Amino acid sequence: MPDGFDYQAFLSLDSTNKEAVRQAHMGAKSGFWISSIEQTEGRGRRGRKWASVSGNLYCSLIYDSQSEIYKASQLSFVTTLAVCDTVAECLEGVDVKCKWPNDVLVDNKKISGILLETFSKTPKDPIFMIIGIGINIQDHPKLTLYEATHINEHTKTDFNADDIFSILTQKMAYWLEIWNVQGFATIREQWLKHCKGLGENICVRMPNEELMGRFVDLDSNGALRLAIGDEIRLIHSGDVFFDTTKNNKRK
Ligand code: BTN
Repeated sequence: MPDGFDYQAFLSLDSTNKEAVRQAHMGAKSGFWISSIEQTEGRGRRGRKWASVSGNLYCSLIYDSQSEIYKASQLSFVTTLAVCDTVAECLEGVDVKCKWPNDVLVDNKKISGILLETFSKTPKDPIFMIIGIGINIQDHPKLTLYEATHINEHTKTDFNADDIFSILTQKMAYWLEIWNVQGFATIREQWLKHCKGLGENICVRMPNEELMGRFVDLDSNGALRLAIGDEIRLIHSGDVFFDTTKNNKRK
């Protein structure tokens, strides 16, 4: 573990995010990682399930964002860069890209998912972030909103969850440090360098609305700036589809 971080590994949990909340209640400090070989109630964004059979990585980090809630969205980009670097280190020469808001793609297929939640013991207590990360290593679910893949599909090396966790914890420490020292501007710039679809036409699906427009860039807090004709719309949450994905997996 990098300096300032600690961890506990489990064989089976309902969800590493839920365990992180329980641990935080019991006094776990910022920088505490939880990992599990499998999850029985793995959770994805927008109330979706996250299939969690053994062989892939499921982990969560408790992180003190100094109760500044706006930092939650920034932290999701910090985490995406750490996951992107982790996957890229295992898959030399393979196309690894970030996808707004916090997915990582390999050859245009989703290889990881990030779920950020907040936690506070009482309304007066500090707010902690729970950063949940799933990375497909040995398998991927077949019937998903986005086409998926896993690390070992792209390499002859037989990576396991311990290998990937050890790289991820280093990368996360690195990007958190960059964020804390240099601020979000550097994170935003690096994310934009590695993202898919910049300047292209995309489709953004939200609970009550679906928008088509050009992906201009990110605002200073990470909202997606979408050009629709002469208007710029700021998108704070939603599912993004590119030309290659928009016709098959949307319903
Ligand atoms: C997504 O929908 O893309 C986010 C998926 C996040 C899954 C991870 S696995 C570890 C952590 N524990 C959970 O229950 N979910 C997150």
